[in-house]
Amino acid sequence: MLKFWREAAEGTSISDDYDGVARLVRTDPEALLLAERDGLLVGTVIAGFDGWRCSAYRLAVHPQWRRQGVGSALMEAAERRFVALGGRRADAMVLEANERAQRAWGAGGYRREDHWRRWVKPLTG
Ligand SMILES: CC(C)(COP(=O)(O)OP(=O)(O)OC[C@H]1O[C@@H](n2cnc3c(N)ncnc32)[C@H](O)[C@@H]1OP(=O)(O)O)[C@@H](O)C(=O)NCCC(=O)NCCS
Repeated sequence: MLKFWREAAEGTSISDDYDGVARLVRTDPEALLLAERDGLLVGTVIAGFDGWRCSAYRLAVHPQWRRQGVGSALMEAAERRFVALGGRRADAMVLEANERAQRAWGAGGYRREDHWRRWVKPLTG
């Protein structure tokens, strides 16, 4: 998974290490959705629902498999999970510079909201 994200994902996450992925799989294994072709991992999304908010993270498709509907299929799978759990609205954080991702989320029916900024505070040293 970590190797795949190094090749396919955009940027890095604070949880991008063995412990981060292990914690996700322990906490909510069904949140990690994988796309496979012929036994090979070609795409991922984390569909996180905490009972309040539906957030999609780490949408990534291997460069060789892009523009073939894999990203859309992953988005739809995430949305099905959210709906099944009672979620009401899905969201994704998309980098301002990531135009390709903006187009993909836009094609999936997502709309940008301009009145937010992310506020963060690291919890580990
Ligand atoms: C963004 C990403 C997941 C899209 O995956 P994908 O499998 O190529 O997406 P799809 O084939 O399902 O594309 C669905 C639609 O999104 C839009 N789209 C996707 N990639 C696009 C691109 N490079 N340029 C313009 N539009 C694009 C198109 O409307 C496309 O429909 P179409 O191919 O019929 O025109 C993939 O490019 C990726 O992994 N990028 C790097 C990681 C990343 O940025 N992830 C998003 C983090 S927020």
